[in-house]
Parts: sequence; structure tokens; C-alpha cells
Amino acid sequence: MAIDRGQFSSRLGFVLAAAGSAVGLGNLVAFPVMASKNGGAVFLMVYILFVALICFPVLLAEIAIGRHTRRNPVGAFSALTNNSTGWRWAGKLAIVTPFMIAVFYTVVTVWILIFLFRALTGGLSELATDAAFGEMIGSPGIFPWFVLLQILVFGVLLGGVKGGIERLARVLMPTLALMLVGLILFVMTLDDAMLGVQYYLVPDFSRLNGQVINAALNQAFFSLSLGMGIMITYGSYFSREDNIPNSGKMVAIADTSVAFMAGLLILPAIFAFNPATDPDDLSTSSVGLIFTYLPQIFLSMQEAVGYFGASMVATVFFALVFFAAVTSLVSILEIPIAYMIDELNFSRRKAVLVQATLVTLCAVLAALSFGMSPMLTDFIPYGGGPKSLFDLIADTFSEVILPLVGFFACIICAYRWRDGFAAELSSGDAGFSSSGLARYLTFSLRTFVPVVLLFVFINSVAAKYFAIDLIAFLAG
Ligand code: PHE
Repeated sequence: MAIDRGQFSSRLGFVLAAAGSAVGLGNLVAFPVMASKNGGAVFLMVYILFVALICFPVLLAEIAIGRHTRRNPVGAFSALTNNSTGWRWAGKLAIVTPFMIAVFYTVVTVWILIFLFRALTGGLSELATDAAFGEMIGSPGIFPWFVLLQILVFGVLLGGVKGGIERLARVLMPTLALMLVGLILFVMTLDDAMLGVQYYLVPDFSRLNGQVINAALNQAFFSLSLGMGIMITYGSYFSREDNIPNSGKMVAIADTSVAFMAGLLILPAIFAFNPATDPDDLSTSSVGLIFTYLPQIFLSMQEAVGYFGASMVATVFFALVFFAAVTSLVSILEIPIAYMIDELNFSRRKAVLVQATLVTLCAVLAALSFGMSPMLTDFIPYGGGPKSLFDLIADTFSEVILPLVGFFACIICAYRWRDGFAAELSSGDAGFSSSGLARYLTFSLRTFVPVVLLFVFINSVAAKYFAIDLIAFLAG
């Protein structure tokens, strides 16, 4: 058991750390891709509804579970359920999930690092070609970058330079937001950008379907770092005097705003650079979209600021994205590490080294699955075609499993812990118990939140692995 778990210095410390975890590639890379492939404005609408009505209660539930039990997810789930073995397993799922997310997140972060380096060294015009991304991900040249990234990430985890990261986050996160705003304004000046704005902001309800609903809920979970034990673990470092509902609100608003801005940057850019874009063709968008469009946006700035200027803007932007990714990566890895320290009595050093080895090994295998290893590339067929090892990990742990873990947290709060949950939220927020929010949380977590979570989970399994749209199927 952990003896001295440490604590965030202040509420702001918690909000910054949680927002640093939440704001990452999910907002800057995955959100625009999901929005473009799932109907633009309808996706945005469903996404915001899910964040407010479903994810926010789950966010508060996870933070409260962590703060009350002062444990990692396995310890927390068993503490609230009289050490039930079944619930311990549910907790284990909340350890495996962040680990697997760390695996594919590491691969994508390496790509960002490479783009950063190439923009810095004058390669922006090559990056802006359609083939650049595909060539990069399939070449062994990426492996030295893995070593560099892992030294950085695990160095931070080992030294616990948390103070340093928090301090850096105070400067870099606002800079990232400002930079996003600047880039959005620039993209808006391009011809045809308005086509993208229209696609992003004016809903076309004929595009609403089961796939949009699955994607929106899974993306909202991923982006808010829910269903992966992070908020439970972070909650365990949160002081009893501090206000959970307000902090949760700030995290949710910050995270959603960054995602919204990333969409407002990328979707208009797609149409500006390719006015003939047919929204129907966007349904197959993938991560490559971002890696192709971002360099194009930067390159097109050269008329205004010259090639060097454009390269510098690109470099600074990729550096900020890279930083956002590293803060998220550090936070994900903290979960399996906290588990090993709390439950298996590992020293911090041993836990970090074991994790570093495991994650690096798995991430290298995932990276090989973009062509370098035919077996891993054509790893397993599901959902209507052959999928790579990377696809399998990314699909399962970012687009399927999160609502299930959220469902468990929700059931524990609403049915096993019950009134303790409300009491926990009242600690640090005197007016909470008589507020409308308290009634909404109790009601929603006992009723429709778990139903929606379970439904989306089942629906995502059917859609991802079996290419069956359950909603259309049920509708006949
Ligand atoms: N929420 C982060 C993002 O949107 C990703 C993340 C996943 C962070 C898992 C921590 C843990 O990029």
C-alpha cells in the first residue's frame, strides 16, 4: 500500500495536471479526423452533448473515487466493493487500457517529433507532399527517435520532475491556445475555407447515424482521459479541501475548447486546399489527414512570411503539439506505475524501468506494422478487412473499451458506494448537496448514463469488429 502518496499543491495544480493530461493528440489530431469523417457539425453537436450530459458526471465520479480511496484503479475498485474479486478485474482493465493507449500514443508522438525535426531543418516543402507521411511511417528511420522519446518520457517519470512539467504547462498550454487561434484566423483568410466552416458548424442531420454516436462518445472519453483510470489516479492526489465539481468543469471546458479549435483549424483547411472535397469522401479520413494538411497550411504561409518564416511557425506548432503529447504520455504511464508501486510493492525505479521496457517493446512492434513487417501489417482481419497490429490496439483501446470502463466506475458510484459519493463531492464544496447538479448526478449516474455507456460499448464492438451497425439493424 502506498504510504505517502503526495498531493497536488493546489486546486490549480490539479486542474493544470488534469488538463495537461486531457489536452493531447486526442484533441489536436484525433478530434479533427473524427469530426471530418463523421459528418462535421452533427459530430460536433453529439460530441458536446455527450461531454455535458454523460462524460461530465463520469469525470466527477472518477475523481471522487480516487480522492475517497486514495488508490490506483485496482485498489480503488476493490476498496469500494469489499475486495470483490470481480471488481478487482474491472480495475485491472483500467490498468491495461492506459498501458495499451501508451503504446500507440508513443508511435504517434514519435511521428510528431520527426515532423518537428524536419520542419526545423528546412524540410517543410517535402512534408507537405502527399507521400511524405506514408514514407515516414514505413521506414526504419523512425526507430532512433523512439529511443530519444523514451529517454525523455521515462526520465521525467523517474525523476518525478512534476514540478517542472507543471510550471512548463502554465506557459506552454496558453501558448498552444494562442497559436491555434492565430492559425485559425490565417486559415479563414484562405479561399474556400468557408466551405469547411459550413461543414463543421452547420449540421446536416442526414449524416447522423450509429457510427457518429459511437465515434462521438468514444472520442469524448478518450479526449477527457476517462475510462482509463487516469482521473481516478489523479483524484487520489487531490486535496479534500478542494472543490471537485468546479475543477471538473474547468478541465472539461478547457479540453473541449482545444478540440473545438483544432477542428476549426483543420476542417476549413481541408476545403481550402482542396475545394472539390466531397464530404462523402471524408468518411475514410485517417490520422494521415492531419499529417498532410498541417504542413500544407504552414507551407502556404510562405507567401506572407517566406519559407524560413513558415518553417519556424511549423516548428513552433509541432513543438507545442509534441509537448501536449508528452504531458499526456507521462500521465498515462503513471497509472500502471502507480499500480505496480501500490499493489505489487515495486519501488518507483523498478516500476518505471519495467514499464519503459514493456511499452518500448510493444510500441516498436506497433510501429513495424506499417509495412516493415508483413505479418504485423496484415495482422488480423476484422470489420471488413485486414488490420495491422497498430489498428487493433488503437481501435480497441481508443474506440471501444473506454465506455465499458466508465460503465464500471459509474455502477460502483451509483450502486455500491451510493451516498458516500455525494458526501465525497460535498467535501470542498459546501453548497453541493443542495444543488441541482447533485440531483442531476445522482439521477443520471443511476439511470441513463450507464445505459448509454453500455449501449455504445456493445454498438462499438459490433461496428468495429463485425461491421454491423446495430442501430440500423434494430431499426429494421
Ligand atoms: N486525453 C488525451 C488526449 O486527448 C490522451 C490521453 C489518453 C491522455 C490517455 C492520457 C491518457 O490526447
